[in-house]
Amino acid sequence: MIFSPYNTVYFDNAATTWPKPLVVRKAVQKALTDYGANPGRSGYKMGLAASREIYRCRETAAEFFNLKNPSNVVFVQNCTLALNIVIKGLLRNGGHVIVSDLEHNAVMRPLYAISNYLTTYSTAGISPENTDETVEFFRRCIRPDTKAIICLHASNVFGTRLPIREIGRLARRHGIKFVVDAAQSAGVLPIDMQADCIDYLCVPGHKGLYGPMGIGMLLCGSEQLLPPFIEGGTGSYSIEFGQPSELPDRFESGTLNTAGICGLLAGMEFVKGIGIRQICEQETAHMRYIYNQLRDMKGISLYTPCPDISRSAPVLSFNIEGRNSEETAEALSRKGIAVRAGLHCAPCAHRCFNTISTGTVRLAPSVFTTEREARYVCRVIRAIRSELK
Ligand code: ALA
Repeated sequence: MIFSPYNTVYFDNAATTWPKPLVVRKAVQKALTDYGANPGRSGYKMGLAASREIYRCRETAAEFFNLKNPSNVVFVQNCTLALNIVIKGLLRNGGHVIVSDLEHNAVMRPLYAISNYLTTYSTAGISPENTDETVEFFRRCIRPDTKAIICLHASNVFGTRLPIREIGRLARRHGIKFVVDAAQSAGVLPIDMQADCIDYLCVPGHKGLYGPMGIGMLLCGSEQLLPPFIEGGTGSYSIEFGQPSELPDRFESGTLNTAGICGLLAGMEFVKGIGIRQICEQETAHMRYIYNQLRDMKGISLYTPCPDISRSAPVLSFNIEGRNSEETAEALSRKGIAVRAGLHCAPCAHRCFNTISTGTVRLAPSVFTTEREARYVCRVIRAIRSELK
């Protein structure tokens, strides 16, 4: 078992993966030591070295997600900021968008903030077992003024996976933009921006890509230029007061997070080295084991079919009947197990699964999760459950 300084068996990887691979920790340290100068501003050796590493990260991300142009990889603070840039940019003159009914607040709150008589959204239901039906739900929401479909790839609460390739093709056929929130899938599920017809891909660095917190990416497959979100120095066209129009400078005002970017680069290389399929299979096997154990215990509520690599991301929600989800998390924490409980910033998903009043306890593994840890968590849940009798 991997114990942290807090003596914790860590099952909160859907929030942030921990531990970080040694190569990531080393890359961050190297960045602070060797690439400490401001990137993109100066022509001396250390500044150029920092710029080179940053460009290497753009190239690796472009290859990872099959995006043609590495310059269209924009570094941002996190996936939420990437979504804000896209949502508020696409809808700056109003219009209609379609979202799924499992969205996280990273999509719903920006949308809500700009919703008025000019900007509206429709919600498409998901049929987890039936791709055609899900696509049909999205198709029925399309209107003449629909500008985009914006949806998550996998639910952060229930692991439910959306058929993004088919939804992307639907969007492309209707000439509308396709925006994917890959918060729970980047590094765990395959994403091919060209084959999946993705115009904007929003990615966190600190989850399935094993980078540090505070770094994310917006990958722009679309030629449509969204307005800058903030303006400021970019190290380019400094004589002009107008923000440069080219990517990535259009969205990258101010000094970049070099250490975060170098950590993210090492994280992506780490994931590539193991392989997304292997990671997903390994994590899903743990979730399947835990699911089957919980299913056989009395007084446990499960909300989804058994985790399966073809239809879900490796995330599992449950409740102990008669206990509030936060109380269960607290009891698990006393036994050294770290989980997230409550609404997971995704009230829409909880409404769908009828868990809005209870929330859920969420288990999310990483590539470092072991069978022993999976067995331990089941033993502890069984014991907590028995205490209730
Ligand atoms: N969105 C993250 C989660 O699901 C933080 O926990």
